[in-house]
Amino acid sequence: MADARLQPVLDPHALARELSGKLLIGGRLVPARSGRTFDVVNPAKGDVIGQAAFGEAADVEAAVTAAAEAQKAWARVPARQRGKLVAECGRVLQDHVEELARLITLETGKALRTESRIEAGVLSDSFVYYGGLAPELKGETVPLLPTTLNFTFREPIGVVGAIIPWNVPLLLMALKIAPALVAGNAVVVKSAEEAPFTVLRVCQILSQILPPGLFNMLSGYGPECGAPLVAHPKVGKVTFTGSVETGKIVYKTAAEKLIPVTLELGGKSPMIVMGDAELDKAVDGAVVGMRFTRQGQSCTAASRIFVHDSVHDAFVAKLKAKVDAMVMGDPMDEKTDIGAIVSCAQFTRVQDYIRLGRETSGATAHVCSRLPDDPSLAKGLFVQPVIFTGLTNDSRLAREEIFGPVTCVIRFTDYEDVIAQANDTEYGLAATIWTRDLKIAMDAIHRLEAGLVQVNQNMVVQPNISYGGIKASGLGKEASLEAMLEHFTHKKSAIINMA
Ligand code: NAI
Ligand code: MG
Repeated sequence: MADARLQPVLDPHALARELSGKLLIGGRLVPARSGRTFDVVNPAKGDVIGQAAFGEAADVEAAVTAAAEAQKAWARVPARQRGKLVAECGRVLQDHVEELARLITLETGKALRTESRIEAGVLSDSFVYYGGLAPELKGETVPLLPTTLNFTFREPIGVVGAIIPWNVPLLLMALKIAPALVAGNAVVVKSAEEAPFTVLRVCQILSQILPPGLFNMLSGYGPECGAPLVAHPKVGKVTFTGSVETGKIVYKTAAEKLIPVTLELGGKSPMIVMGDAELDKAVDGAVVGMRFTRQGQSCTAASRIFVHDSVHDAFVAKLKAKVDAMVMGDPMDEKTDIGAIVSCAQFTRVQDYIRLGRETSGATAHVCSRLPDDPSLAKGLFVQPVIFTGLTNDSRLAREEIFGPVTCVIRFTDYEDVIAQANDTEYGLAATIWTRDLKIAMDAIHRLEAGLVQVNQNMVVQPNISYGGIKASGLGKEASLEAMLEHFTHKKSAIINMA
């Protein structure tokens, strides 16, 4: 059996060519019904690496039909058995970590060593983790009369539509499809325009283990492919990660159908550095928190760093030195820390924000690291990280999600004032505070308006830690047991009268 399985392909160009023009529907790689495709570009070099299939409503119809059919049998497979198969997916994906890391590097421009390998590893871990949670799909009994039994249990929803973005597609896909499958659902995944091939490869690998049609993968644009998926009458749940703007469109369509949604949207996460903080640790935390290794393309990016007046200048100097020492270059190169921005649209957007910051009176742009001088990268979408000082919390750079390597360091003197400023945002995804004072830390944990508050660390999402925002950052939680139970099942109540 194992011999018949797909072997890892370490040449990502070959893999991109092989996967070109294909969707995965009913367990098979097929072209879009229309035969249309669109180019996928390597942002580090500007070359076209392949053509993704242009999925549209007819493909959505085929994928959802296949999913609905497969789901009926899957729901009858005992939960433990489903879990075993999903965990097996995780183990097989482990053999493909290097392959997937190279392919995601090629299509998104993220650095292989600092980003892609880690993400591919978490993909595999998430399947193993959720597979093991299958026995937790259990209900409750409610005390009634001695002759009456009221109990609850968990039923799958049916077909789940999962729409993912390009910044961490493997991790985000895993957090959606692994719990959905374990809970007994079938899934149709819609990948982001910028990053279709790695997601398709994962689905191809999974289709060796799981029944055909149980999950299906569509590539295509939002309005032509994502929108009909959300609107499809047989899709009973949508889980989406992306922009606030698109999240609202998804939510409106779901409201028409009265189906549940999970929305993981943007952020403008505050990081507060108190005067007593261990400064070097806080600086390291800012580098991780800002995801400079991911060109800042993270919804949790610590893009508003409030630093106490007494340590502000030292913090900025240390942060600048750290980011200066990071190597920007060919994402495939093991020496590279920082890769390229994913697309021309994002590149322009980030440059526009940097220009706006520079034009703001009182602001200083501390430009870090160096653009690569390798001529093969001349057309690459590289942006030097910028640390802005002298901006206030009401500037557009401190209010809007930039999704690039740009952060604002804002000086403060008063704790009450900094809590108010940190909360003065439409977002509420994540926050951190850096202090040695436990009383302050505990107070801030309670008062910061965010789905996740961390003290003296800036850890990246893990499959077992509940994750999701409040305010405009979204609805519902991903990761953890709670996400599987609350977001991918219905709770049914049953009452038996034995009198
Ligand atoms: P987007 O929200 O438009 O795209 C995310 C996904 O939604 C993609 O798969 C896209 O094809 C799909 N989509 C787009 N329109 C749709 C529609 N009408 N119906 C259903 N699906 C649709 O985000 P985009 O354009 O890639 O990036 C724009 C900004 O969004 C970024 O600059 C960033 O600020 C934010 N963003 C936030 C992310 C996060 O992790 N929360 C991830 C990606 C982007
Ligand atoms: Mg968009």
